[in-house]
Amino acid sequence: MDGRDAVTHPAEVDVAVVGAGVVGLGIAWEAACSGRRVVVVDPAPGTGASFAAAGMLAAVSEYHYQEEDLLGLTLESARLWPGFARPLGTEAGNLSTPTLCVAGDAADRQALADLRAVQEAHGLGVRPLTVREARSLEPMLAPAIAGAFEITADHQVDPRRLVAAILARLGTGAVIRQRAESLVWAGDGARVVGVRLADGSELRAGETIVANGLGARELAGLPVPLPLRPVYGDILRLRVPESLRPLVTATVRGLVRGKPVYLVPRADGTLVIGATQREDGSDAVSAGGVYELLRDAQALVPAVAELELYETTARARPGTPDNAPLLGRVAARWAPGAADDGGAPPHAQDVAGLIVATGFFRHGVLLTPAAARICVDLLDGRADERWHAFRPDRFARVPHETHASYGRTA
Ligand code: GLY
Repeated sequence: MDGRDAVTHPAEVDVAVVGAGVVGLGIAWEAACSGRRVVVVDPAPGTGASFAAAGMLAAVSEYHYQEEDLLGLTLESARLWPGFARPLGTEAGNLSTPTLCVAGDAADRQALADLRAVQEAHGLGVRPLTVREARSLEPMLAPAIAGAFEITADHQVDPRRLVAAILARLGTGAVIRQRAESLVWAGDGARVVGVRLADGSELRAGETIVANGLGARELAGLPVPLPLRPVYGDILRLRVPESLRPLVTATVRGLVRGKPVYLVPRADGTLVIGATQREDGSDAVSAGGVYELLRDAQALVPAVAELELYETTARARPGTPDNAPLLGRVAARWAPGAADDGGAPPHAQDVAGLIVATGFFRHGVLLTPAAARICVDLLDGRADERWHAFRPDRFARVPHETHASYGRTA
């Protein structure tokens, strides 16, 4: 159906959220709690990156050098997590157990010490441990580990349980199991008024929030290109036999011959091991990835060899050029010539009715409460200056007119 022939309906919902992964559902949940009528659009909720994610809330241990802007957001979201999770009780599988960072050999110890120095320089709480202290906390750690430190602020949730808990609260009527094909624009080209679905129908909404991860690349009608790229990860799920429980109580993050690996113990006696980073374009589980994860996990916790490996999964994280999310409103277009000076383009008026929340890369689960808060603030007409650095149009340098031909209402 040509968008210009679309039937015009009055707004059916206050908010349409495209994408029912952890981030989209978190936003939908917060918006629903604010009293808005919310509908989520996704052909298969919770089956993308959220299905693979280990769920570490790792603002400190996943801090990377020169990501200070992102650190402000990750720390804010870590602060928001307990309040976000409270109405869900224990259903999201949240655990406030700490994180142990462990070095496989002397070179890994030096690399972790360098990371620790950067973390400490930002006032992040990091407690050095002797190997003996680390092994008294986690007796299954290998005697040969070369060093360790503890981060008490980094916790975990179970993303699959989180997805199920939010879906149950939103109710089946709040989820449309279809692909969103394109944004629908008002005739004046200044406002998004909903989304066109795969069956050709339109969902009309006062505000549309694009939160479908890498899927945003296929959503037609966005006013700016979103520089998303898939960064694949292999992730393993294992069952710990009764005789070995608890294998570990803390999340164990290690460096083994320079390669990162993490082991995340769940309350149900399972263990999640991740995660590789591949940009090879393949969403198939990599045999080499599985081999390396098991090899490196066993170097830190030898009894991993005795567990039952019951699931291997590969999914892509939505990466961005600066590893930070694309989060906020989007300017309609850029002034001519703004591309030449290399500086930030002057923003025209923001597109009304549209918010983008994607590109969360390694931090989707951690950043969910912050994304939800920021989106609901924007719905309320509040834009917190602190988060302008994450505007989805920050990489755009040229006018982008694609919206003119998509889903436009005459
Ligand atoms: N945040 C963990 C990962 O992306 O592998």
